[in-house]
Amino acid sequence: MAYIYIETFGCQMNEADSQYIADRAAASGYAMTANAAEASVVVLNTCTVREGAERRAYGRMAHFKALKRADPSVKLVVCGCLAEQDRDTMQAAAPHLDGVFGTRELARLGDALAAWRPSFDDDHSLADERLLLEPLGGHADCVGDPYAHVRTFVTVQRGCSYYCSFCIVPHVRGRFDNRPMDDILAECRVALARGGRELTLVGQTVNAYKEPANGADFADLLEAVHALDGLDRLTFLTSHPKDYTPKLAATMGSLPSLNPRFHLPVQSGSDPILRRMNRKYTVAQYREKIAAFRAHCPGWALTTDLIVGFPGETEADFEATLAFCDEIGFAQAFMFVYSPRRGTPAAHWEQIPPEIGGERLRRLAATIDRGVRAWHERKRGRIVRALVAGPSRKDRSKLAAKTIDNVTVVAPAGSLRESELRTRPWLDVRVDDAFTWGCVGTILGIAERYDGVAHPVDARSTIDLISSRFHERQTADAAPA
Ligand code: SAM
Ligand code: F3S
Repeated sequence: MAYIYIETFGCQMNEADSQYIADRAAASGYAMTANAAEASVVVLNTCTVREGAERRAYGRMAHFKALKRADPSVKLVVCGCLAEQDRDTMQAAAPHLDGVFGTRELARLGDALAAWRPSFDDDHSLADERLLLEPLGGHADCVGDPYAHVRTFVTVQRGCSYYCSFCIVPHVRGRFDNRPMDDILAECRVALARGGRELTLVGQTVNAYKEPANGADFADLLEAVHALDGLDRLTFLTSHPKDYTPKLAATMGSLPSLNPRFHLPVQSGSDPILRRMNRKYTVAQYREKIAAFRAHCPGWALTTDLIVGFPGETEADFEATLAFCDEIGFAQAFMFVYSPRRGTPAAHWEQIPPEIGGERLRRLAATIDRGVRAWHERKRGRIVRALVAGPSRKDRSKLAAKTIDNVTVVAPAGSLRESELRTRPWLDVRVDDAFTWGCVGTILGIAERYDGVAHPVDARSTIDLISSRFHERQTADAAPA
């Protein structure tokens, strides 16, 4: 058996690319593994959006050198945004790499996998089955659980043409490249036929989508995907405030299978900073967009991205961001200290000292956390339906799941088996307690579909059979190489 291990860093686009690599690998007869030590091919799908991501990726490349030392036939390849950015220097910096594939070279990577696959006797129909059953191997913030097939990322658009002054993405992924709607729908149908329960349409700015042939917009695309037979839940990532139209707000509110969550990065609550970031909207315009969103989508979770310590950010600018976050009450936020990226305009401007950035991040987190905790508190005592994600990282006798507004819920797995959850991946969880990171509760039932009837779970049983095979692999992977 040939195994492939895929480690994914970064955003939803990389998750989607890793899914593509996994599909190509499975078609060539590889099985996925979550244990790098048993893989014949190790793939690092990298990110370069902040310096930390870049450092981490080079650290992992060095770490995996040990695998090649132990078995020189193991192939180690790097793809993703860092591979694109450092394509001319990476192989020299890490000569043990067998390949460096830029963001537009995924098909070439797929071809290399087919060429490298050692010839084994097992037949391909088994491999196709494994595509459905095996976890997409991985680590840290990547897809890496036995239930990966229930969530599918479908790329609707590659690249970005907006050139925010801090962002490397247009430089490493190119300008907007929208996929034909028919191709997107065909991929969604395949995902649903494989048992996918939650489809996520991904792109850097999905709401700027324009069908290349007929100009249909993102609202039209959402309606078309929503109408597919067998769709359970639908969601999308990420949107840009500039392209959030009244039509899209109304469409979102009219589609019952759309998850009640909306990610709309604001980045800053200060107009001079938004202008310098080249974000193309003002705070007042963002507020208006949110008013339209809330009118059409009452009760939905609104989440955002924020950057502090951007060049020129004064204490007054930062306090405006704090006040704005308090006013909006985001259900979750991804917060970053500005990280200068080579080749972007803001990298050449006078920088804010890192200790000020760090201190602002802590103050912002305290403000955001209040809103997040309040959002989670609202679930206490209620029964929520959540899609299984896998064993909890901290305590593997517990299961982690995500509600449709993307809140993590953790509960003892009890006697539930992986095989049952593959066909009934929706958990009915009574929320017993709420924290900033999510909620804890008790599983009362499991269901095949989001709107289906739940089958009760026997709460008295204490035998833990959950994901024993996957558990073993993860444990092995945790051991130092
Ligand atoms: N397309 C998204 C949007 O509409 O804003 C953003 C995509 S970017 C990959 C994800 C997030 O990373 C951004 O929203 C921003 O908050 C953060 N980010 C991007 N470049 C950054 C930088 N140089 N330093 C710190 N954070 C950054
Ligand atoms: Fe980056 Fe701005 Fe596009 S954050 S991905 S350039 S919208």
